[in-house]
Amino acid sequence: MLSAPPRLSPDLVATLPPYASDPTRFLSLVAGQGDVVSYRFGQEERVLVSDPAVVHEVLTAWPEESRWTPITRAAAPMLGDGLILAGAPSWRPRRLVVQRELTYRSVRRFAEAIVANTERALGTWLRGDGDLDLQAEIGRLTLLNLGDTVFGADFGAFADVLLSTLRASQVAIDAAMAGRFDETERQALDEATARLDAVVQRLVDDRTVEPTTAADLLSVLLEARESGDPVFAGSWLRDEAVMLITAGHETTAFTTTMALRTLAGEPETAQRLRSELAAAVARGVAPAQLADEVPLTRQVVQEPLRLYPPLPALHRTAVADTELGGHAIAAGTLVVVSPHVLQRDPRSWPEPERFDPDRFATERRRELPRHAYLPFGAGARICAGNHFALLESALIVALATLRLDLDARDGPPRLVDSGTALRCAGTVPVALRPAPAGAAPAGTGAAA
Ligand code: HEM
Repeated sequence: MLSAPPRLSPDLVATLPPYASDPTRFLSLVAGQGDVVSYRFGQEERVLVSDPAVVHEVLTAWPEESRWTPITRAAAPMLGDGLILAGAPSWRPRRLVVQRELTYRSVRRFAEAIVANTERALGTWLRGDGDLDLQAEIGRLTLLNLGDTVFGADFGAFADVLLSTLRASQVAIDAAMAGRFDETERQALDEATARLDAVVQRLVDDRTVEPTTAADLLSVLLEARESGDPVFAGSWLRDEAVMLITAGHETTAFTTTMALRTLAGEPETAQRLRSELAAAVARGVAPAQLADEVPLTRQVVQEPLRLYPPLPALHRTAVADTELGGHAIAAGTLVVVSPHVLQRDPRSWPEPERFDPDRFATERRRELPRHAYLPFGAGARICAGNHFALLESALIVALATLRLDLDARDGPPRLVDSGTALRCAGTVPVALRPAPAGAAPAGTGAAA
């Protein structure tokens, strides 16, 4: 007979910060009570799982219906039947269409556009007054990159509306996670959805008027729709486009912001990276190849992804009575898996709070703990944009490090976790100067 998971005692609950005030801290403290721990959240029974093997089982072996949670239900009117929410049998062919375009190899075709946008942005930053809000600037740059690469469109004209719309929708979805999704939130989400729909419609209309031979994702989505396969009919194209904008932007922007902000406070690592990049450029490596040719570039993105996973908690619902880690889990229980908790667990990561990009060095890859690094999730539903996100972040970090010397203005940015996403509260100020002479040999191209 299986026992129920240990429950947080009311005495202990009284000592914890309220979940909504600091979800990642709350989850870390709960995880300290055991690998499978249950607690009450409002009227809901939740279970936090922190044993990497059990987490792996939840993410890879649980049925698709387990993805229906209060969060996905709240987001459904906006995301429609886009990949994140699509279920069997339509999920597989839809995933294939998107995935083929976003493999490790195929995202390389986006590198030139990312480099060009980044170089333009660096030129503008260098002409400024030496102060920069990393969060705002990277948010804009990653949006332009998403427009150019995925939609073959200049998002400059849409940037303000898209940024404010994405923010509004996030606030509403956060409210769902905190158990307070009321009529006001519903209305805010509906309005944000209508604005996103209008942008997507305009992108599709523009493309119909001006067809292109470009290999962006919008072309591929349109082609699939025209194939006549019912799986790609109806609102599918709209849903997938909205999904790519919402899933792809904030996560990548936050990752890149945190990577650059972390380097601003780690001058030795920044200098080491700069030297390795400069040596690569001196031997003829093109800017678009830097992320591949200088492994440290990726490592300084992978390590902040460990410390600050943009999605610090993933959720699944037990669709039937089941067992986890030797405990009975009742149907309907919300199971929480936390990349934040797993990626700071000292049993898996020695000195977990320390920034050490060499954890991800090629020669140490075998030492990496199994199933304890999940910034992109795991299993069949692993993030479809992981290669794109890593390439984009690494290229921005590489070019910015070559050209700029960033200095942290204040202490570490204050992070807020809504329970669904981690982000920086307010601005992320840094001081910038051109990198020391000789660090960015001719050929890196940034227009100063
Ligand atoms: C650093 C950036 C990113 C992070 C940390 C991230 C993280 C994640 C995670 C954790 C999941 C799985 C959620 C779950 O299992 O409940 C996911 C799913 C997904 N992500 Fe990302 N993501 C990032 C960037 C992107 C980008 C750039 C795109 C597209 C351009 C994208 C598209 C998707 C899609 C389509 C799914 C759903 C996949 C499916 O269910 O088949 N993501 N992401």
